[in-house]
Amino acid sequence: MARHLITSAIPYINGIKHLGNLVGSQLPADLYARYLRGRGHEVLFLCATDEHGTPAEIAAQKAGEPVADYCARMHKVQSEIADGFRLSFDHFGRSSSPQNHRLTQHFAGQLDAAGLIAEVPERQVYSHADGRFLPDRYVEGTCPNCGYDKARGDQCENCTKQLDPTDLINPRSAISGSTDLEIRETTHLHLRQSAMKDRLLQWIDSKTDWPILTTSIARKWLLDGEGLQDRGITRDLDWGVPVRKGDQPWPGMEGKVFYVWFDAPIEYIACAKEWTDAAGRPDSDWERWWRTDHGAADVRYTQFMGKDNVPFHTLSFPVTIMGSGEDWKLVDYIKSFNYLNYDGGQFSTSQGRGVFMDQALSILPADYWRWWLLSHAPESSDSEFTWENFQASVNKDLADVLGNFVSRITKFCRSKFGETVPEGGTPGEKERALLDELDQRVRSYEMAMDQIEVRKSAQELRAIWVLGNEYLQSAAPWTTFKTDPAQAAMQTRLGLNLIRLYAVLSQPFIPDASAQMMEAMGSTDWSWPDNVEAALNALPPGHAFTVPEVSFRKITDEERADWQQRFAGVRT
Ligand code: 2FM
Ligand code: ZN
Repeated sequence: MARHLITSAIPYINGIKHLGNLVGSQLPADLYARYLRGRGHEVLFLCATDEHGTPAEIAAQKAGEPVADYCARMHKVQSEIADGFRLSFDHFGRSSSPQNHRLTQHFAGQLDAAGLIAEVPERQVYSHADGRFLPDRYVEGTCPNCGYDKARGDQCENCTKQLDPTDLINPRSAISGSTDLEIRETTHLHLRQSAMKDRLLQWIDSKTDWPILTTSIARKWLLDGEGLQDRGITRDLDWGVPVRKGDQPWPGMEGKVFYVWFDAPIEYIACAKEWTDAAGRPDSDWERWWRTDHGAADVRYTQFMGKDNVPFHTLSFPVTIMGSGEDWKLVDYIKSFNYLNYDGGQFSTSQGRGVFMDQALSILPADYWRWWLLSHAPESSDSEFTWENFQASVNKDLADVLGNFVSRITKFCRSKFGETVPEGGTPGEKERALLDELDQRVRSYEMAMDQIEVRKSAQELRAIWVLGNEYLQSAAPWTTFKTDPAQAAMQTRLGLNLIRLYAVLSQPFIPDASAQMMEAMGSTDWSWPDNVEAALNALPPGHAFTVPEVSFRKITDEERADWQQRFAGVRT
């Protein structure tokens, strides 16, 4: 038994996430966490909401709420939807927690002591009408690159060029619309990432088993063009972690907060403390996951994220960890994902395009979505959600292959032998062959899961379901029964045991259906089939079961057409 720390990129607080966000971090992280728990490992699976930065402030303003209230409300909303998708976080924290405030300030103090923080005078836009500096998205104006007149201070949406608020032509305040702006000089803190370049490169180069997507992005930022740049880690905002050096004030930094990308990954750690604090447990209980000098050296730490998050996790956050000079756990493996597109375009939060997590759950249970998303995870390239594909996969894999198997065998047994596992008969060649194939497939499934090959794992699992169907088809207990009832009993007994085996193996992908199958089999034995033959004898003759309700129904053409139309537009 090993110990596994797993984190998913923490979603921004401003609004409900779409299915593209879900499949890029939280859902595959949940798959892996469930799998490892299923195999008997000790797992700590953490996620949180990312609550700072201008997007949070602006969203709160739009909602007409104080930002703290807005964040508290949206955290609850996101947390409930995460439950709806059966995301099995051990704790779903908040980057605005007091724990994260303190830890972020602590890291800043450590980095400063190590000489990794520079105080740099910067030119910032100051608004007289608003009486404040306007960072990032708080300034709008004309893009100097393409002439688009609604460009934001951090980026032009039209040509995607990364901008600085001072780059904009005819700038105006996004708060008041005022053009009474001036450029003022003010000092900000910069993280001296460049000083760590060689160490980072060496570290990345040692990760030969990481996905190419992860290492190629990291290497590009380390080596391309101007290379690794120092980054501003403070902002002139009210909402955020106030800039302090540990528990001391930071002269000259009054009224400033840390940049959201500085405190967000630190929340991965703070979240663990939130988790133990909430249960009134001692610090040693979370430190054994995060401090290599407190027992975390033998923890394996895996992070999940979309590709746009990779630079922050391969460069800036490791600089924070390594630069602190303390014994914090560094990530062991970074699983990153490409993008999921929606029906010929992109999912877009700002444009409300695609299917959002709450909408998805309002039309179908979590398992349908989990199965489709995971079996189409954008691993080696971007992938695309279409309603046709969704309908076809669900109907074929879940209804025809798995659902049909379960219902056929249980109904057949009930009609011929009653609702107990039947006795009699001896396994023969066909059963031996099935066992051998199952054994191989289960081992390939484990291998794919161990390597976090999400699509491959789904294929292997589906192949295991198919084996059961094929066996049933060829053994045909309904025919055997006419001439040899004992033989039919043995075949049926095997079929019922397969259902329990499927519940255990499928649980990481489709937890609700798995629980339903297990319950119908009258079992609570979730032990992993290290030995497939033994696992297929778990339900002995005489053991009672019930015929489950239909676990998966088919999506009709009418429903598909209706949803296609309903979700074609823009969510307001
Ligand atoms: O891209 C995002 O949704 C960010 N909120 C992810 C932050 S991950 C981490 F750094 F905490
Ligand atoms: Zn532009």
